Amino acid sequence: MNRKIAVLPGDGIGPEVTAQAVKVLKAIAGKFNHQFEFEEALIGAIAIDKTGNPFPEQTLKICKSNDAILFGAIGDPKYDLDPSAKIRPEQGLLAMRKALGLYANIRPVNSYPELLKKSPLKEEIIKDTDFIVFRELTGGIYFGEKGQSEDKQTAYDTCTYSTEEILRITKLAFESASARKKKVTLVDKANVLETSRLWRKTVKHYAEEFPDIQLDFMFIDNAAMQIILNPRQFDVILTENMFGDIITDEASVIAGSLGLLPSASIGAERALYEPIHGSYPEAAGKGIANPIGAILSAAMLLEMSFGLKAESEEIRKAIKKTIVAGCVTKDIDSMHFYSTNQVGTKIVDILINE
Ligand code: IPM
Ligand code: MN
Repeated sequence: MNRKIAVLPGDGIGPEVTAQAVKVLKAIAGKFNHQFEFEEALIGAIAIDKTGNPFPEQTLKICKSNDAILFGAIGDPKYDLDPSAKIRPEQGLLAMRKALGLYANIRPVNSYPELLKKSPLKEEIIKDTDFIVFRELTGGIYFGEKGQSEDKQTAYDTCTYSTEEILRITKLAFESASARKKKVTLVDKANVLETSRLWRKTVKHYAEEFPDIQLDFMFIDNAAMQIILNPRQFDVILTENMFGDIITDEASVIAGSLGLLPSASIGAERALYEPIHGSYPEAAGKGIANPIGAILSAAMLLEMSFGLKAESEEIRKAIKKTIVAGCVTKDIDSMHFYSTNQVGTKIVDILINE
């Protein structure tokens, strides 16, 4: 198979973890006789430094001319410490999601038997957790009208959703549930928010065509509690943009580290794959970042964009073996840890030799 992949390393630990994901993709290409071509592009703070724009035209062009996109992370503390900055790295990510129409962010969450003891949560609570969050990604409060009053003493962000925006991600969530445990939990705040009530009405109506799928509703505050109290109750969680952002960081505690979680952002025509962690600037350049979230994102890319299921399974198996062998980064084992590069190399070694 011949495919072109756009690589957007971004900021902080983004370039380090993305390099490991590319290394794994090259190993897979060698093993299975595929030709993958990689094309790099700028995004985030580094793009602001070099071009003044967090999502340059050239990057959009590269994203559109490739078959899939692999993305690292964006963000830089110099902007976080300056709330009045007009241009911010995060604008690059949001602009990219919008420009490419990436409306569904898919974030699988599962516990690893070998890492149960590493989680601050009790082993018996998190074992056998296996759910997947469908987070709406191009609507809601992230993209609604926002601003400040003239005297700058009041600010507002509006949350807006249309039936169409709700339906297209609902469709994907139901498709996923029908291939899994056939349960969808819509997470919202329908006791307070008008948009949540539209979500409920729309999803409920859609669900009538799928009698074999159980549809539950849960308020976001309760869901935040249930995820760490009884995560096994969930199969597919469907939710709006900001709720999904918050609960997936929370859910990463179940896996053992934020550094382990991958994601896919899907649109009608394009798809982008990225670890859910951010740029983690304190760790940048130190070789301590966990590359597994990025490598698992590459596995999702192979499966979802290229239909290469066997290849993606090989990567997941190699990651499991690497973890079993104790070859993990500092976030997982603060006593006996390996570098970002060593973990990537171990995964590649297993892929090639086993
Ligand atoms: C994520 C990130 C982004 C988001 C930020 C960096 C804008 O937290 O991908 O989850 O909130 O969507
Ligand atoms: Mn987030």
